Amino acid sequence: MRAGLYWLAALIAFAAGVPAAAQFSYDVPYVPTPPVVVEEMLRLANVGPDDFVIDLGSGDGRILIAAVKKFGARGVGVDLDPDRIAESVYAAQLAGVTDRIAFHRQDLFKFDFSRASVVTMYLLPSVNIRLRPRLLKELKPGTRIVSHDFHMEDWQPDQKSTVRKNVFLWIVPAQIDGRWRASVALPAGERSYEIEIKQKFQEIDGVARYDKKVAGLWNAKLQGDRVNFVMVDDSGPVETNLYFDGRVAGDVIEGVVRRGIGSDEKQIKWRATRIAPAS
Ligand SMILES: C[S@@+](CC[C@H](N)C(=O)[O-])C[C@H]1O[C@@H](n2cnc3c(N)ncnc32)[C@H](O)[C@@H]1O
Repeated sequence: MRAGLYWLAALIAFAAGVPAAAQFSYDVPYVPTPPVVVEEMLRLANVGPDDFVIDLGSGDGRILIAAVKKFGARGVGVDLDPDRIAESVYAAQLAGVTDRIAFHRQDLFKFDFSRASVVTMYLLPSVNIRLRPRLLKELKPGTRIVSHDFHMEDWQPDQKSTVRKNVFLWIVPAQIDGRWRASVALPAGERSYEIEIKQKFQEIDGVARYDKKVAGLWNAKLQGDRVNFVMVDDSGPVETNLYFDGRVAGDVIEGVVRRGIGSDEKQIKWRATRIAPAS
């Protein structure tokens, strides 16, 4: 039926003297995601009732309709093809979810997706790469991106799953690179650190300088706006680990340092402010 519609449209375009390709100049052809892959995409993204899901190139709306109907999310689909939009609207009506879903006929490259907490995509590697700078800049840290089949080159996924097809999950990282001034009230007194962080997507690495000494940042991890690392505190008679946990909000990080483990553990609040962006 669908193939028949394409041929009919191509025939009309041909008869009108318009090249068929001009009628279908989409960046990605329509291929629907199989239902088991839809399930795995939504499971991997941990979609829930608080989520706003945006499907870029939404086809017949199946990913969004499942997100809304099975997980209680809200969402928007965007597709250039008017037949796909009509199918989606009809499917949303049949599913009884029109109050929590909308479909827009628009170019995904011009669509404002910044309000998403989850972005779903079944596009192409070249399209993912064209979108990548905007995904990193415009989505809030912590936004989950799931892609059916296609990767994002050197932006490694945070998780990968295979249920018939590859599904990749990325969590948009906060921008944390640069130099930070952090102070921590250690038992031996307040200590001020200058922490230098280098970042490539969600991968981070760094050192801390204090009192003309240098300390490594061990096990440094960034997931969305959440940063964790370990430093060794040499201020007391016995060296002790400092487990840093913080949330990044622009040029400020705030959180808790756990000093020591088990019955020795003490929690200390810490705060850092960015003093220079990445060089
Ligand atoms: C591979 S299909 C995926 C459909 C759906 N997301 C799914 O997984 O079942 C890609 C969709 O992207 C749409 N598309 C291609 N280029 C587009 C563009 N520039 N803007 C919006 N939609 C586009 C196509 O019409 C098609 O429906």
